[in-house]
Amino acid sequence: MQKKITIGTTSIGSKSKKLINEILNSGRISMGKYVAQLEKEFAQYHKVKECIAVATGTDAVTIAIASCINLNNQKSPEIILPALTFIASANAIVNAGAKPIFVDVNLDDYQIDVTRIEKKITPQTLALLPVHLLGYPADMDTILDIAKRYNLLVVEDAAEAHGAIYKNKKVGTLGIAGAFSFYVAHIITTGEGGAIITNNEEFASLARSLRAHGRACKCKKCVLNISSQYCPLRFKYEKEEGFDPRFYFEHIGYSSKMNELEAALGIEQIESLDRIIDKRRKNFFYLNQQLSDLEEYFHLLKEKEKVKISPLVYPLTIRKNAPFNRQDITIYLEKKGIETRPIFGCIPTQQPAYRFMNHKLGDFPNAEYIGENGFYLGVHQNLTKQDLDYIVEEIHNFVRSN
Ligand SMILES: Cc1ncc(COP(=O)(O)O)c(C=O)c1O
Repeated sequence: MQKKITIGTTSIGSKSKKLINEILNSGRISMGKYVAQLEKEFAQYHKVKECIAVATGTDAVTIAIASCINLNNQKSPEIILPALTFIASANAIVNAGAKPIFVDVNLDDYQIDVTRIEKKITPQTLALLPVHLLGYPADMDTILDIAKRYNLLVVEDAAEAHGAIYKNKKVGTLGIAGAFSFYVAHIITTGEGGAIITNNEEFASLARSLRAHGRACKCKKCVLNISSQYCPLRFKYEKEEGFDPRFYFEHIGYSSKMNELEAALGIEQIESLDRIIDKRRKNFFYLNQQLSDLEEYFHLLKEKEKVKISPLVYPLTIRKNAPFNRQDITIYLEKKGIETRPIFGCIPTQQPAYRFMNHKLGDFPNAEYIGENGFYLGVHQNLTKQDLDYIVEEIHNFVRSN
């Protein structure tokens, strides 16, 4: 039988199964104590005060940006992000009511090119949204320095980078907030799901309200629907005497709650996160080492000083002088049972959804180059040494025959 080397994996352990059974037997599946436990454990993992679990990673970014807009009460806000990222980063900005402003990326690490950010800042700029793409930390020192000088907020899109480290700090903890995805293809998963982390209590309170339609009450009991009859604010809402704050809405919010079954999956995975990252890193560096003789054909992603990557996938970008193109190699690998995906594409010039912004091909040369020549393979924790050797052998076979 042919091997199947997948991009992602899902490990559902006995603890998740036990919790899921308990939840099913309890009859209580909407956001409750297990979502609260996931939030507590994800906050503790990051050593931050607050975590707000939501329905998807896209919602995590959307609600984080919407909370920034609400905090600063800004009209016509612009948010700066890399041109090369998964489409959700840009969609989240639009969904939050802001304008995405794109910046080209580096060819060597796929991250936002920080030397190009300042040129894009205008009086409307509210925040920077670095994306730690593929699990590689963006250059946060420079990003935070720019943010400080121009008085901008920083939200980190860490959807693909759980546990990645920038100068001894976990990504997602460096700006006002970090947004994560727990989608199935990601480092840890709840099936669908996401989370926002922050140390800013006002921000957390806004995000909790926006997650639940913009409701006025954000106290932790009510937010979790645990026991509404004991809400200390019920019928004593300080702003409007006589109103029940659970049915009184201060903002135009979203409907984005995580449910208990999803949380049950996440709780076990957070406990395994460091082990998962270690295995992914081992796989990643093994592939880098075994493919180092092919560097004249491919850009290999190297870990720079100051960062510890948390590999989501194994990216390869074909160099200009290579005698083959992306289509040739990905068709070959797929035929051999090795899944591949393109590295997303440059959103403003290669994704039709953003044509309305009138950018021209050539405006973002590196993002466009990667968008045409970059692809990735799986590097997940359930790949064996034999799987990795099979990938290495097939890439060499392909290069030899071309
Ligand atoms: C960089 C980035 N941001 C946001 C998201 C959105 O996450 P979700 O798929 O959970 O909505 C993704 C999803 O893959 C992503 O890669």
